[in-house]
Amino acid sequence: MRDRDADKRLAAETAVGEVRDHMLVGLGTGSTAAHAIAALAARGLRIETVATSEASAALARSKGLVVRDFADVAHVDLAIDGADAIDARLRCVKGAGGAMLREKVVAEAARRMLVIADGTKRVARLGATALPVEVLPFARAFVLDRLSAYFVRCVERAGYRTDNGHIVIDGHGWDDASPRALADRLMAVPGVVGHGLFLREVDAAYIAENGIVTRLER
Ligand code: A5P
Repeated sequence: MRDRDADKRLAAETAVGEVRDHMLVGLGTGSTAAHAIAALAARGLRIETVATSEASAALARSKGLVVRDFADVAHVDLAIDGADAIDARLRCVKGAGGAMLREKVVAEAARRMLVIADGTKRVARLGATALPVEVLPFARAFVLDRLSAYFVRCVERAGYRTDNGHIVIDGHGWDDASPRALADRLMAVPGVVGHGLFLREVDAAYIAENGIVTRLER
């Protein structure tokens, strides 16, 4: 059996085959996205990129890629990012690495959004995966109280701050019968600035399992 990292790398390298010269590419965050950044740099294309985290920006620059400030960008040609869980409808949970807010902005800005993953990320139901919620530190106790209505258990990441200066609360045990309704309810809580549910952003997924890549299109 292949190791998971080999499958992550294979999925990333295959997805990067969609990138063409002169594209503006959105770089995801995490170990699978890091493989995509390396593969992109190795192709030597004439592209520019934007990054979904300071870590990915630093990695991309270290490999010679041009990284633009996303604050100056409204449209991205192609975004490539990992996921923590993905279902058959290409709905995802993201944010184990804490970058879900920037990842969602870049995904929304992208004409096409690709998820890259090893086979362990495929799930029948999303609700078994902890859902990260990004929260204004000022609203910490208030939001924790409100989130208890939607999750069996809420766990704040101790001592952690996102690139945006916010805290992250991971929601464990949630009802995935209607993720759209949950997403709307979360965003209706003042102090919640984002969450890891990606329900309509993903256009395609490249999933590698034991050396075989499957591409799923929306
Ligand atoms: C980053 O915040 C996340 O959304 C990652 O994309 C996700 O956690 C996948 O990470 P790995 O590729 O490291 O599994």
